[in-house]
Amino acid sequence: MPAVPDRNTAMSASQQQPGAGAVRAPASKVGLYAETSHAALRLSFATTDDDLARAIASHAGERVQRALDAIPRRRYVKQATPIERLDNLSALLGGAEMFVKRDDLLPLAGGGSKTRKLEYLVQAAIDAGADTLVTCGAVQSNHCRLTASAAARERLGCHLILEERVAGSYDPAAGGNNYTFGLLGATTAVVPAGGVPEEEARAMATLRAAGKRPFWIAGGGSTELGSLGYARAALEVVAHAREHGPFDAIVLCSGSGGTHAGMLAGLRAAGDRTPVVGISTRAAAPAQAAKILALARDTVSKLGLGGAGAGAVVGERDVVVLDEFVGPGYSLPTAEMAEAIELFAREESIFLDPVYTGKAAAGLIDLVRSGELGAGKRVLFLHTGGAPSLFHYQTRAPSPARAPEATTAREVRAATVTAAAAVAARHATDATALRLALGLGAGAPK
Ligand SMILES: Cc1ncc(COP(=O)(O)O)c(C=O)c1O
Repeated sequence: MPAVPDRNTAMSASQQQPGAGAVRAPASKVGLYAETSHAALRLSFATTDDDLARAIASHAGERVQRALDAIPRRRYVKQATPIERLDNLSALLGGAEMFVKRDDLLPLAGGGSKTRKLEYLVQAAIDAGADTLVTCGAVQSNHCRLTASAAARERLGCHLILEERVAGSYDPAAGGNNYTFGLLGATTAVVPAGGVPEEEARAMATLRAAGKRPFWIAGGGSTELGSLGYARAALEVVAHAREHGPFDAIVLCSGSGGTHAGMLAGLRAAGDRTPVVGISTRAAAPAQAAKILALARDTVSKLGLGGAGAGAVVGERDVVVLDEFVGPGYSLPTAEMAEAIELFAREESIFLDPVYTGKAAAGLIDLVRSGELGAGKRVLFLHTGGAPSLFHYQTRAPSPARAPEATTAREVRAATVTAAAAVAARHATDATALRLALGLGAGAPK
């Protein structure tokens, strides 16, 4: 079974949109598409199957856009993020043509995916009359940084609950995202793994007792409301593909799930069948897939586009999760992650992060190298941000290879790839050895 389904065989029920129908006249190759779900009746005529498919997709996309626009949001995102071709990396790996969508360049401090979710979530907080945002995340959480950033922009208070998912990983003096929490004016509380619900109840009660009006934002912003941000992003991808050609796959991070679920919901509701491959950063694939399916369907329902049921829009086979790039655990380094960070930096001048996009890019690189996404295919990598945490982890994730004898850029690149692959092969199954190889010491990271 290939990890990435073929876009042409992944026929999803999303083709049958409520209130829409297609009639073909094969002999004359004239098609008629009528959309009746809104006040106006719209007709499109097509002379080829391709034209008809395009007309259906365009109407479906407009319907999703209208549904999204009907739900209030803050306007942090002013324009579609760029989609760039990864020329050097594509040439180096010799497989699929690789592209990156630069959601790391989104607005709010330090950029990244959470800005899209927060457009909807912060609006809900403001509509509820809140004066303080409260949320949670890991000790180097990008979601916490961006929630604090949105709060600063909106002149709201912000309280962050930092969960020490890896014992001993919290360092009050740490840089990276940790440094930015206070800089943006947020207060913080640190809890051990599993301690968030108790601290959430305590913090909300304490704030209320102090006369505040706190609003809880779920971890990662991954509710059906937050996921709408990625249904919007999906429409940007659909519009780009219409102009520049379709992708054979989209590869992205699958963590708390809103990015993956929202992207799937938006694509399928818009009639786009591009396979979406989620690279898990924490959970085992079956559990992660179940979470993504439920959240994607909830997102479709939130948009009011489920028709006969959200299950008719996003099917089980739409959800693809790979968990082999998690390594020893959430936020713990792998040689493949270190190599991916190095390759993106050296080849494309793009910073990834060690916890999320480094591991997702390791998955992308593996799919390209293995031929799963081979020559002749086009793959889009969604860069969800996170680079500020690189400046925390950088002292602990040194470059996998140095090649003093290499003189040309090509030799340096070849040596880097070979050495990193050798490190990965030697230590991939031995977490302690891997940690030592990466210069991390045998104990838990700080
Ligand atoms: C940089 C970055 N990429 C990806 C993700 C994962 O996104 P999601 O939580 O929507 O699955 C996160 C989550 O915190 C993140 O910070």
